[in-house]
Amino acid sequence: MNPILVRPADMVRITTPALAEKYIESQISALREQIGDKKVLLALSGGVDSSVVAALLIKAVGRQLVCVHVNHGLLRKGEPEQVIKVFRDEMNADLIYVDATDRFLDKLAGVTDPEQKRKIIGGEFIEVFAEEARKLDGIEFLAQGTIWPDILESEAGIKAHHNAGGLPEDLSFELVEPVRILFKDEVRVVGKELGLPDNMVYRQPFPGPGLGVRCPGAITRDRLEAVREADAILREEFAAAGLAGKVWQYFTVVPDFKSTGIKNGKRTFDWPCIIRAINTTDVVEVTVEHLEPELIDRLVQRITSEVPGINRVLYDYTPKPPATVEYE
Ligand code: XMP
Repeated sequence: MNPILVRPADMVRITTPALAEKYIESQISALREQIGDKKVLLALSGGVDSSVVAALLIKAVGRQLVCVHVNHGLLRKGEPEQVIKVFRDEMNADLIYVDATDRFLDKLAGVTDPEQKRKIIGGEFIEVFAEEARKLDGIEFLAQGTIWPDILESEAGIKAHHNAGGLPEDLSFELVEPVRILFKDEVRVVGKELGLPDNMVYRQPFPGPGLGVRCPGAITRDRLEAVREADAILREEFAAAGLAGKVWQYFTVVPDFKSTGIKNGKRTFDWPCIIRAINTTDVVEVTVEHLEPELIDRLVQRITSEVPGINRVLYDYTPKPPATVEYE
């Protein structure tokens, strides 16, 4: 049976566990038929789409799936650990974890241009993934978390989705795309039914270049660590306030300038931390989430006292347009 490449016009939107279950069953047999006794490779970022693809393939072909999780050092706090816990420990996946932090950060050192930073991160990612792929024997398939909007956007010429990774020519695999015909909300329903944790299934969007675009200008390890710690505090406080899953996207940015402050009676010269929390349906236009003053006070208190290098917290009240969501 050939995999379905086009979403049938009459396909019922997957909104319930029963519909998700039906989809999962049909995919399991399709995947088994496509893959047979061969091996499949997957770049598992821990994002919704690749996580659901991994969970589906684990159900269908178990350890014939080889997952590679590349930590580029720009992930959020706790993310690599969660990928390892969920997939290797709980689902018994064959997971290769590559901590390439030094490699990425060394290449990015001193690079200020945003596009150049993105290029380095994307290019290095492919390099690392290709190196791991070459070490493996007998891989015939490459799994990808392509979803239906990716196909629609490619067709409309909006985005060039070369998910197939721009992999070097010596690595040519047949593609396996088990969520290709699904919309994002359907991927989440399927993921929930597959038993993935809520914070993975309902994860807010996170750019491929990760915290790299939230550390504007040349990335330094100390400022990157400040972004990561402040982001972790923001996520904790949003979860405690019941805002996680309600606010579309929220994050911190630590810009590359310093201002004067006071800590323990002594003068400091440290970075500010900018908080951005936005809502949208299409990401073309976004509005700003207005936070309760008590929550803002708590965030200011925690971030300035717990994150080394931060002495000031600012809240970004700018919608899109005129501002974009990310800072670069
Ligand atoms: P902007 O900043 O363009 O962001 O208003 C719109 C949405 O896209 C995400 N974003 C990215 N996602 N790679 C990604 O995978 C990127 O380079 C990138 N830049 C922005 C951003 O987080 C927001 O959700």
